[in-house]
Amino acid sequence: MTLPTPPVLPGLPILGNLLEFQRDRKKLLMRGRQRFGGVFAVRLLTQPMAVLYGAEPARAFFEKTDTALRMDKAYKMLSASFGEVGFTAPPEVYRRQRSILHMPFKGSKMGGYFDIMQEEISLWLQSLGEQGEVELTQALGPVVQNVAAHAFMGREFRNRMGRDFWGHYLVLAKALDPVLPPNLPLPRFIQRDRARVKISAMIREIISERRTSDVQHPDMLNELIHARYDDGEPVSDDDIIHLIMALMFAGHETTWGQAVWTVAELLRHPQYLAKVQAEIDAHLPRDRALTYRDFANLPHLEWAVYETTRLHPSADIIMRYVEEDVEVGGYRIPAGWVVMLSNELNQLDEQVFTQPDVYDPLRFSPERAEDKAHRHSISGFGGGVHKCTGMNFANLEMSLIAAMLLRDYELTLLTPNPQVTYALGAVRPEAVRVAYRRRADSPLQANGGVC
Ligand code: HEM
Repeated sequence: MTLPTPPVLPGLPILGNLLEFQRDRKKLLMRGRQRFGGVFAVRLLTQPMAVLYGAEPARAFFEKTDTALRMDKAYKMLSASFGEVGFTAPPEVYRRQRSILHMPFKGSKMGGYFDIMQEEISLWLQSLGEQGEVELTQALGPVVQNVAAHAFMGREFRNRMGRDFWGHYLVLAKALDPVLPPNLPLPRFIQRDRARVKISAMIREIISERRTSDVQHPDMLNELIHARYDDGEPVSDDDIIHLIMALMFAGHETTWGQAVWTVAELLRHPQYLAKVQAEIDAHLPRDRALTYRDFANLPHLEWAVYETTRLHPSADIIMRYVEEDVEVGGYRIPAGWVVMLSNELNQLDEQVFTQPDVYDPLRFSPERAEDKAHRHSISGFGGGVHKCTGMNFANLEMSLIAAMLLRDYELTLLTPNPQVTYALGAVRPEAVRVAYRRRADSPLQANGGVC
């Protein structure tokens, strides 16, 4: 017997569910969940998209990736911005490049990245001064961009490139459209192509300088320049440029929003904040620079970061193109459809999480371990073969931003209920205003310098 295709949420003629998808995806998908349960569909223009969440659909989504389900064909908008490389390339190219893509994130590298993060966050904190007000979404953008530029391309590039570089990135982000074919002659796609050429030229210049110098730089670019594929062939300049472009994007766009949410949610929950603050005051030294090892003792902060990923995933949906018919949850999803795992629905699953809408980081404590209900209960960093390589990097950066802010400042949230923006690219909070006053015992107070 042929299985039915998933039921489609009613929408407008021609547009289908496009407008609501762009304006408030969560609301649209919640409605689908309420009406149909674990598998249903929306239509964006002519494209039917199956929406999945829950244990079995999530398992099928990740297990069938790179066979019946194709990642590269679902993310054409990414390859239009960064080129066909790593996760935006066909599976056989991805398999060849995978070890190179994962190489910069080995555990042994984290100590070096930690020092860079600390330096960049300190520079920002010093610029804040004794007291005042700051809008966190705007303020943390440049901090995570500087961390990415410094860690991946080196200190010199971070200092030299100026804001132009990130201006071009903004143009790329604005052209990330999951619906329209990326080669349409629209002004924002034409601007994207120009921005891509400019970014490539900036990175190519640094690569050729590095290739003619004997100096070894402690950054990701250096590693890529000296890396070889498993067959012994060196990584070409074009591949390095595309990889760096993709990593710079993946490395800042998503971390940015979740870092803001991490701080905002802590300030919205004073009881839990008190636990985190006590931990920071007890374990983070004030008389010397922090070390990576200092962060081994901050479980409450760690769970706060996990809870932020659960409630506010920057990657709210992840997608695959259906290459061959697949069966999921009693439905047949035909070739030519797109299938979308909603991280928001998945991570608010009542079968898995107690009071899923409530901010409750202790659900991650070993006593409760709600996230272990099934393998993909938490999918904010993806899963399976393409699971985020930068997850530890991002978690460390978000923890460090929150920890250094709380170590050095008393903070008051002035935006009690921050709202989410469903822009193109990653999901971020709108304005989050915070008042701050430097603590009398802040190390910034004592030496006014980097610590
Ligand atoms: C809070 C921050 C982050 C979030 C929420 C996030 C989310 C994700 C998700 C959901 C995926 C899987 C996409 C899919 O299956 O369709 C992914 C993959 C990936 N992410 Fe992240 N990411 C974050 C930070 C980073 C950072 C800091 C880097 C690197 C610098 C990074 C690099 C990558 C790469 C290279 C992949 C593809 C891995 C592969 O295909 O093997 N991400 N990320």
